Amino acid sequence: MNSLIFRCLKKCCFIVAVAIAFLVLCFALLDFEHISLYAKAVWQTKDIDFGFKPRIPTAAGEQKSEQESQQQDPCLGRYIYMHDLPAKFNKELVNKCETLKKQFNFCPYVKNGGFGSRFSLNDSSSETLSLGECWYATHQSILEMIFHTRMKEYECLTSNSSLASAIYAPFYPGLEVTQYLWGGFSSSVKDAGSLEFTAWLKRRPEWARMFGWDHFFVNGRITWDFRRPTYIGPKWGSKLMHLPETKNMTMLTVDSSPYANDDFAIPYPTDFHPSDDKEVLQWQERVRRAERVHLFAFAGATRRHSTSIRGELITQCKKASKNDRCKLISCLPNDKVNCRPDHVIKAFMKSDFCLQPSGDSGTRRSTFDAILAGCIPVFFHPGSAYTQYFWHLPQNYTSYSVFIPERGIKNRTVSVEEVLSQISRDAVTDMREEVIKLIPKVIYARAKLERTEDAFDIAIKRVLERIEDFRRQIQEGKNPRDRFPEKSTWKYYLTGETGKHEWDSFFQHKH
Ligand SMILES: *[C@@H]1O[C@H](CO)[C@@H](O)[C@H](O)[C@H]1NC(C)=O
Ligand SMILES: *[C@@H]1O[C@H](CO)[C@@H](O)[C@H](O)[C@H]1NC(C)=O
Ligand SMILES: *[C@@H]1O[C@H](CO)[C@@H](O)[C@H](O)[C@H]1NC(C)=O
Ligand SMILES: *[C@@H]1O[C@H](CO)[C@@H](O)[C@H](O)[C@H]1NC(C)=O
Ligand SMILES: *[C@@H]1O[C@H](CO)[C@@H](O)[C@H](O)[C@H]1NC(C)=O
Repeated sequence: MNSLIFRCLKKCCFIVAVAIAFLVLCFALLDFEHISLYAKAVWQTKDIDFGFKPRIPTAAGEQKSEQESQQQDPCLGRYIYMHDLPAKFNKELVNKCETLKKQFNFCPYVKNGGFGSRFSLNDSSSETLSLGECWYATHQSILEMIFHTRMKEYECLTSNSSLASAIYAPFYPGLEVTQYLWGGFSSSVKDAGSLEFTAWLKRRPEWARMFGWDHFFVNGRITWDFRRPTYIGPKWGSKLMHLPETKNMTMLTVDSSPYANDDFAIPYPTDFHPSDDKEVLQWQERVRRAERVHLFAFAGATRRHSTSIRGELITQCKKASKNDRCKLISCLPNDKVNCRPDHVIKAFMKSDFCLQPSGDSGTRRSTFDAILAGCIPVFFHPGSAYTQYFWHLPQNYTSYSVFIPERGIKNRTVSVEEVLSQISRDAVTDMREEVIKLIPKVIYARAKLERTEDAFDIAIKRVLERIEDFRRQIQEGKNPRDRFPEKSTWKYYLTGETGKHEWDSFFQHKH
């Protein structure tokens, strides 16, 4: 009798326990639903303000049809498929870091997914920045690897290429060509990697659907290393960017061609790679508070070619450094210590203006070091920035920079110090504030930031827009190439003399 009651009780307990467990599970599942809806709500209201309390979805909101909830998919139109390229196009190049370039060890620079080795930026009063985790000695030509690292964590990656709006090919063309740029290699050696790469892509089923118009890749070196022959020399570089396949793709570089419309310049990487929004704001505040004792600064070295204005700028800076008006950081090969990234950033933080003359190509990484330090860039040629970084820098260049035409420096009739000292303090303050606002847009964060749109996010957004445009045209039976005709010459580029009108028309063309 007793044992019967006991058995019955045990059974009841079991049933009750199962029922409770079931209910708990139901609630948990419901809650998960809430969490994912909540995540979506946060995602969609991202641009507004994060101080807000997120809206809990209403009951009506929860009963959306499948079609509606698909419309809510924050990744819709943003899915990207990443090709699983053979290792020789990326990983193996990284493994060869020690021997890629003669007398140069790339190994420290491929660390941390291409961000490089960490260093700390101590400030002059030797107070270590709370931003100690944000600084990496980053190589100026390593963007292809940084981009790949960020793409691996892109929030809308898909393994199903038919869902993808764009196809990313994680090739490292800069590292690849570095092996053959110097040392008298034959053209066929220089082109072998590029030809294998495009042949591989063309064999994939993804190529056929849009003839490559939905493909993109990133190139950490300047465009001129891939467009043989160029002004650098008839044998310089590979012809990667002149191949029929790459002509259909969107190519991102740090320095694009003024003649072609298939490559787009995105910022050079700097050494600052924060991993949360707070670090960006803290840095901007630091830069805003910096005490600027020099009117201008220049970090760099002379160039051998006779048309370079660098020699003249260095002379002018040396003269002005006697009364501390100019800070010169010499970056000749035997000045490596002098030219350390932390020295450059500190000097730029102490200067109102930073000179950015052309070097081997029109653009310089130093431009982005200057922006990062809140130092107003001074350009001497429109090809150094105004006709390059359309996606990341404002079209209204007077808002954030100063332009001094090269010719006046060459013929020694213009003094940089004189021009810069005539700019009112108010104008300097306004321009600097614009520069500080640009900081988030020109940095490559270590990982996706919650609220801040960084250079990577902007580039991806614009690539997707461009490819969407191609898709529309193809659907309308048009050839995308007709929409973006090649221009054979851009007069301004050769002389650097023509005015804003031409640059604006260039802007339209490359957009
Ligand atoms: C920065 O400061 C820390 C602590 O004071 C010191 O150990 C480190 O060597 C400094 N780094 C540089 C690059 O000066
Ligand atoms: C990929 O997506 C397409 C289109 O939605 C679908 O038809 C196909 O079944 C998916 N393939 C896989 C393997 O999930
Ligand atoms: C590039 O695209 C055009 C259409 O614009 C197409 O005719 C051509 O075959 C494509 N090239 C390659 C190599 O697929
Ligand atoms: C460009 O910026 C300058 C300086 O900030 C400003 O005075 C001017 O109105 C701006 N021009 C346009 C077209 O926005
Ligand atoms: C020097 O260059 C400036 C600026 O382009 C120009 O206005 C001036 O006429 C030139 N002077 C000489 C002597 O060539």
